[in-house]
Amino acid sequence: MARNRPSAERDAALREIKRLGLNPERIPRHVAIVMDGNGRWAQARGLPRTEGHAAGESALFDTVEGALEIGLDCLTVFAFSTENWRRPASEVRYLMKFNESLLVRRRDELNERGVRMLFSGRRDWRVPKRLLRHMDESIELTKKNTRMDFVIAFNYGGRAEIVDAVRKIASDVADGATSPEKIDEKSIARHLYHPEVPEPDLVIRTSGEIRTSNFLLWEAAYAEYVFTPVLWPDFNREQLFAAIAEYQSRDRRFGGVEERK
Ligand code: FPP
Repeated sequence: MARNRPSAERDAALREIKRLGLNPERIPRHVAIVMDGNGRWAQARGLPRTEGHAAGESALFDTVEGALEIGLDCLTVFAFSTENWRRPASEVRYLMKFNESLLVRRRDELNERGVRMLFSGRRDWRVPKRLLRHMDESIELTKKNTRMDFVIAFNYGGRAEIVDAVRKIASDVADGATSPEKIDEKSIARHLYHPEVPEPDLVIRTSGEIRTSNFLLWEAAYAEYVFTPVLWPDFNREQLFAAIAEYQSRDRRFGGVEERK
């Protein structure tokens, strides 16, 4: 809980953290989640894959509630990757509509809870114009909120993000605004999609898959990873708290010998 929050909000989060038996000194500032397993969850029930995505919505909003309860600064979720365009056209169409309707149905409630919505990813021709408009409206609606940042990675790929940063830096070099010798890790980080958001401390991936899948490649360099076999629609705030307990049991050394303060 690094932010300057109203004291009532801070006290409530602290009470909840203690009730859960978590260490208030080691609550991650930023948790990022790969919400995986919707299709398998549906198939196991003899339902179309799209029903799994629909069921993933309640899992997501229970997790958001949990994140608010313990006062996370930031929660990022992987909603659609640059690779997801390769899915059958009917599923891609469903996901575009689903994401759009979810934004429209949920943004007021997020706004009332003091959540600032941000989007991370490429705004290219493949993303429907209407969805882009709803994203912009959600950003505008929630831009003054300070309780928690909710970053929705949409048409996001970690490599694409680094490519986009390199393009911006190359154009600064061409304009004479910087020179190749001045490029360092800090300047690359400044050109990522959301340099103002702290790097994730914890990345959670559901459904038993143990890989990063091009998620936050640069930002998660020192993150702890928690992989759980739970399929995304069965995830909830309790699972989030369990992942944080696991995170707290790890020894973060950042390549050194002591935990960074
Ligand atoms: C992965 O399951 C899940 C997705 C591709 C989409 C998840 C999206 C949401 C729950 C909504 C998020 C939307 C916003 C706007 C926050 P999968 O289909 O890869 O499952 P499988 O691995 O079992 O096939």
